[in-house]
Amino acid sequence: MTSPITTLSLVDTDPAELPVDAIVIGVHSQSGEVDGAAGFASTLLLATGAESIAVAFDGKLTETLALLGATGAPGEVVKLATLGTITAPLVAAVGLGPEPTGAAPAPEPLRRAAGAAVRALAGSATVALTLPLPDDEDMPAALRAVAEGALLGGYRFAGYKTRPQPSRRPAVASVAVHVPDAADQTAQTEIARAAIVAGAVAHSRDWVNSAPNELRPPAFADAVAAAARDAGLTVEVLDEKALAAGGYGGIIAVGQGSEAPPRLVKLSYTPAGGAGYGKRVALVGKGITFDTGGVSIKPAQGMWEMKSDMAGAAAVGAAMLAVAELKPAVAVTAYLPMAENMPSGAAYRPGDVVTMFNGKRVEVLNTDAEGRMILGDAMARACADGCDYLLETSTLTGGQVIALGKRIAGVMGTSELCARVQTAGDTVGEPAWPMPLPDDVRKGMESEVADISQVNAGMDRAGHMLQGGVFLREFVTDDVSWAHIDIAGPGYHSGEPTGYWTKGGTGVPVRTLLELIDDVAANG
Ligand code: BES
Ligand code: MN
Ligand code: ZN
Repeated sequence: MTSPITTLSLVDTDPAELPVDAIVIGVHSQSGEVDGAAGFASTLLLATGAESIAVAFDGKLTETLALLGATGAPGEVVKLATLGTITAPLVAAVGLGPEPTGAAPAPEPLRRAAGAAVRALAGSATVALTLPLPDDEDMPAALRAVAEGALLGGYRFAGYKTRPQPSRRPAVASVAVHVPDAADQTAQTEIARAAIVAGAVAHSRDWVNSAPNELRPPAFADAVAAAARDAGLTVEVLDEKALAAGGYGGIIAVGQGSEAPPRLVKLSYTPAGGAGYGKRVALVGKGITFDTGGVSIKPAQGMWEMKSDMAGAAAVGAAMLAVAELKPAVAVTAYLPMAENMPSGAAYRPGDVVTMFNGKRVEVLNTDAEGRMILGDAMARACADGCDYLLETSTLTGGQVIALGKRIAGVMGTSELCARVQTAGDTVGEPAWPMPLPDDVRKGMESEVADISQVNAGMDRAGHMLQGGVFLREFVTDDVSWAHIDIAGPGYHSGEPTGYWTKGGTGVPVRTLLELIDDVAANG
């Protein structure tokens, strides 16, 4: 079930004369002291890019938009029928907030504005955006942001409805971004990249949004393997027999409670220079296709959202599809452990001792802490294969949501790599915050009978997110720089759509991973 992809192009002709269904312009909010009166008034300010449209409206565009309720607040979209003043029948003014002094807006506000506008314009087949872009070295990043935001805001999950919904307007089919010179090589490179990246994010959102009965581990593995083969990646899938024979005790333990057996999918990308060229990056993503909690079962309320417990694997698999197209000068190998965490007569249980892929023995205390069991195996395998950087991402702990909320991921690992994850996240609009791996948390995980407890031995939930990080560290060899990115909050958006985030899977952290891969390719 793949969603239709919006097409993307550049235009440089007069926006007032573009034959599209709608034109998006930016508006800033501006509050200032009212002359002579005691108080403030807010006025609307057209952003650059809208000049020729303002002329066509005889200078009355701002006034009319204000009359329709536009304030320039971020996320606000006000639509205006143009009644023949310009070629496009519709103008949509998207709020950009206060005008930044002496500069064009930063990439993330542009990305969100483009997303909100394209989302609000569902029903218009063709849309052009003329948003304020800087005319200096910041232009490529701003253009990338507008293009990504437009495509991501236009994302629509195909879904499972048996008949079309009359109230559901079709998603925008094509987006043109207005730039000074559409033939400019840098601009063309940016939109080509944005289309690939947004396509990957859409892929990951589709997988997350799929119903969990449609995407149990064998089906998920088949879907990822098929997409990866089409993209030209090398694919290897370990089934339950191969996993048992290979000593993947954690994946087997979690997977044994389900009638749909577990998988480990390995995807490899080799750069033109060969496998030994530059640094080797390993990606690992948690692929629990549904997390009931197992024998330590979760409450019924909201359990259906645990269909998103494979968001890490979806992001890693999708990022690999983009890697195959972007062809960075660095070797990238991905490991996607997949299992369904179910309670049954065959399920693993609290008290079980499990021998992991690297030989360490784990005492299970809560079957709902299943993510770390499958990830420990996959991370140990990545280290055994050999890598310089290991980036792992997972919807691992409710503690991440408590500590950092729904927007900011938690990052634990080697401090240098954590800092690079944070920087990459800031660049792409997927914020992440470094968290510690304290000694006392590791002490609390000492097991009476095994090498480590899966959670705090006294079931103390203190430092819950950190327990996850500390546990995973046991499966990384000393020579590897690693980062664990906990996306329990940002991986799935249960609220109303906002900016370029639609309801459901967000695609976080696909864009961070791709940014980091570029970073490693450029800087080692
Ligand atoms: N998949 C959950 C974590 C989660 C919670 C993701 C909320 C997204 C939203 C994970 O497998 C889990 O159940 N974690 C437990 C661990 C505990 C039992 C040690 C948790 O966070 O409560
Ligand atoms: Mn769980
Ligand atoms: Zn889980």
